[in-house]
Amino acid sequence: MAITEGGQQDKARVGIPASAREAMEKLNADAGQFNIWLRTQANAPAQLPWFRDTEIGAAGQVAGGRVGTAQLKASAHRWRWKEISPYLLRIAEIARDADVPPIEFADRQQFLLTNPGLGGRLQVTTTIRCAISIYNGGDVAPVHVHAPNASRTILSEKGGYTTIEGERCIAERGDLILTPNGTWHDHGNEDAEPVMWADILDFPLLEYLDCNWLDDKFTGAMEGNARAQAPVHEVGYSHKLYGKGGMLPSFVSHQRGFGHGTSPVFQYRGKEIRQTLDALRSEAGDPYEGITLRFVNPATGAPIFPTLDYSAQLLRPGEETRWKRETSNIFYIVLDGSGVTEVGGKRYEWERNDAVVVPNFLWRRHINTGKTDAVLYAVSDWPLFEKIGQYRAQGRKPDGSVEQLIA
Ligand SMILES: [Fe+2]
Repeated sequence: MAITEGGQQDKARVGIPASAREAMEKLNADAGQFNIWLRTQANAPAQLPWFRDTEIGAAGQVAGGRVGTAQLKASAHRWRWKEISPYLLRIAEIARDADVPPIEFADRQQFLLTNPGLGGRLQVTTTIRCAISIYNGGDVAPVHVHAPNASRTILSEKGGYTTIEGERCIAERGDLILTPNGTWHDHGNEDAEPVMWADILDFPLLEYLDCNWLDDKFTGAMEGNARAQAPVHEVGYSHKLYGKGGMLPSFVSHQRGFGHGTSPVFQYRGKEIRQTLDALRSEAGDPYEGITLRFVNPATGAPIFPTLDYSAQLLRPGEETRWKRETSNIFYIVLDGSGVTEVGGKRYEWERNDAVVVPNFLWRRHINTGKTDAVLYAVSDWPLFEKIGQYRAQGRKPDGSVEQLIA
């Protein structure tokens, strides 16, 4: 059964006169001063069916009235690179006119993506934040450490670095560079050309939990300008330790930094990710995902962060994945190719560097409409949902029947 205009909530409201509903709203407006909420079927929060409502277009909706305005329901959305990227340069123009260096002007020279369903909050899902950053030659983001787990997906061809726990990671397009919770890190660009990347963090989750701390009193060795930590490992240290699949050095601690449950690998190389996907492209793959690779903690096989799972997927020209939905959220960045993601009955075309968010509960599928392979990087909060006992996934078979992938 599809959720129709007005949704399940309105079915429950049939027979409740408008005057009674208004009277309840009025009573609540008065009661609100004492921080209480009077609940009836007329103003109850929305709860979406999972097993029963399996129509492709099912999207649900939040409750009406004052309860509804305070509820959060992320929307599916796509950000087009050609529309958003010029704003990075425009920040720099304003800073130049104000006669201050851009990074001093804005602390970080970046913009954050906002989900239209989340009321202007700086988040793409209830758990994930994404910022697009630019670092000009000479820019440095000083060394610091914080509670959120964070990553950068490098969009520029090359340039820029992040130093994490003394390991300097030189960035190239397609690299995934991690700054797990409890790791000291700084960013910068020593090249002439600007570098752009996407920062992805579990910031909103920690904000919700009121567990968001940051420290910048680094006591280790500093380099040159006294704002960046001095490297203590050679470039490529993560790769040297963990770069060969199935082999794990046993003379080092796999705990780097003082965070919990995070991967000791700080950099995955874009070139290697692509080579690995290319080498697997003639395999059948997963009918719901195509050819996929997960980035995992090599010491445990667990997701690289306790909250977020990162993966790369390759879709071959003409490939259409089956419809799938999960109780968790996914955020995609398009590294290569062009195609379409259909979500909750809507269609979002994408190309290189575009971003797409698929909120939880919505059916989605991907189609590569281009002539070349498409590569998407995905960030999902399923590890969080799994830890709290709430991760479920369903798939739609070619005959239209629904199967429980994770029941
Ligand atoms: Fe940071």
